[in-house]
Amino acid sequence: MMIKMNSEKLLYEGKAKSVFQGENDDEVIIKFRDDMTAGDGARKESMNQKGYLNSILCAKIFEIMEENGVKTQLVELNEPCVMTAKKLDMIPIEVIVRNIATGSIVRKFPFEDKTPFNPPLIQMDFKDDEYHDPMLNDAIAKALGIVTQEDLDQLRALALKVNEIMSKMFKDIGIILVDFKIEFGKDKDGNIILGDEISPDSCRLWDAETLDMLDKELFRQGKDDEVIDAYEEVFNRLVSDEDKVRYGIN
Ligand code: C5P
Repeated sequence: MMIKMNSEKLLYEGKAKSVFQGENDDEVIIKFRDDMTAGDGARKESMNQKGYLNSILCAKIFEIMEENGVKTQLVELNEPCVMTAKKLDMIPIEVIVRNIATGSIVRKFPFEDKTPFNPPLIQMDFKDDEYHDPMLNDAIAKALGIVTQEDLDQLRALALKVNEIMSKMFKDIGIILVDFKIEFGKDKDGNIILGDEISPDSCRLWDAETLDMLDKELFRQGKDDEVIDAYEEVFNRLVSDEDKVRYGIN
């Protein structure tokens, strides 16, 4: 299969993905790399197979979103690690949904670790490394000029819907969706679309029986040798043999 990627047309290089201009003006090609970072990029390692696993998991999860009425950036997974996606004007907000308290929320506030949030807690952080992704409120987000109140209302509604779909999806394969981060952008008509990626890099996932971590938290805690096994576990539970045929893998 021809990869419609032109390395001279690199539009953006993130910490784990590179974004290239696609053949069509309104499309981009996203390359999932093996790079893994933690602590604002302070630690960086290459994890063999990570780009492969995440690109397929992300395509599969975005397909499930579409089936449930959430519009995503996905056009097609051309081949493992290479995704054609709609070009979006990204909103610099990390929308975080928490079903269980852990991570930064228990470091910043007096929540006891592992306390369930009911209803789920939605947090928005300003995506800007220079400012270390500070937590936003609606007034600050609007004053920064990055969103309107209508946008914020839509982001919250979409985040809750994504949480509902994904919590069920993971529950069905014996995984607890603890929390996750998503990002949105606007298409050329101004519609808010789910973009970036959803993968074990951007979620906290616990095995429902053992409560073992199956996500990037292992890397944050320095358990580098357990990372790929955990991602493979999620992959094996979520990606069916039929999916593998569709993605051209075996
Ligand atoms: O670190 P924190 O507890 O705020 O993370 C909440 C959730 O958001 C976790 O699932 C984490 O993987 C995700 N996250 C992310 N990218 C960031 C910050 C958080 O994917 N820059």
